Amino acid sequence: MYGKFAALYDELMADVDYKKWYMYIESIFDRFGKSPETVLEMACGTGNLSYYLAEAGYNLTCFDLSSEMLSIAYNKLNRFKNVNLLNQNMVDFKINKKFDSVISICDSINYILEDEDLLDTFRNVRNHLKDDGIFLFDINSYYKLKNVIGNNTFVEDRTSLFYVWQNYFDDEENIAKFYLTFFIEDGGGLYVRFDEEHIERAYHIDEIVKILKLASFKEIYYFDAFTFNEPNDYSERINFVAML
Ligand SMILES: C[S@@+](CC[C@H](N)C(=O)[O-])C[C@H]1O[C@@H](n2cnc3c(N)ncnc32)[C@H](O)[C@@H]1O
Repeated sequence: MYGKFAALYDELMADVDYKKWYMYIESIFDRFGKSPETVLEMACGTGNLSYYLAEAGYNLTCFDLSSEMLSIAYNKLNRFKNVNLLNQNMVDFKINKKFDSVISICDSINYILEDEDLLDTFRNVRNHLKDDGIFLFDINSYYKLKNVIGNNTFVEDRTSLFYVWQNYFDDEENIAKFYLTFFIEDGGGLYVRFDEEHIERAYHIDEIVKILKLASFKEIYYFDAFTFNEPNDYSERINFVAML
């Protein structure tokens, strides 16, 4: 889970264009004729998308499981009066409110490893979504987790940070395990090491659709992320849109 890595998350995600991600979400709202006022962002992490949603004036509630990620999100978001930040789990969150839209980006859904937990998550979303609401989320595709990330090692050498990312894909469990080892310069020329293990489940599109249907979502669409094109065999991120 996200522990000490949280402090480095934004540095390592510096090449991710969250403004573009936010614009894509706006384009999905437009395409489906939605003008939400209340938005729930699940697994908001360090609040990079939340920042743009807050700035756009949405009445925003966001939550994450990791208190380390949330404390960084808090520093970004505490100046906004329209944001409520919570420490909850997607699988069993409880907020006494229904939202116009529920969102989760950047493969947070892949962190849910079991079908039953994914069903509980989607049921929970349904219970927090207004009848005419819209649920948006993306996943790392099966192809990406198995063929692009899985069984590969990545090394990054930056001035004050060196890290190794060793990955293993388990074909039987459809699980990608990431072993992250960081060495951070302590300011005096010494490097401090810490390790984290992350696990993502590789889902096929039809598995997600089946579980969304079990959770009573009736209208389900999916796209090659950041477009409105059908996913292809090499799509690395799939964006889902589901409505009741
Ligand atoms: C890859 S990060 C994405 C964070 C953020 N959405 C972004 O776009 O940068 C995945 C996030 O999912 C969170 N997460 C994983 N499992 C969760 C769960 N069951 N409930 C809530 N958050 C969870 C992690 O703590 C982490 O912040």
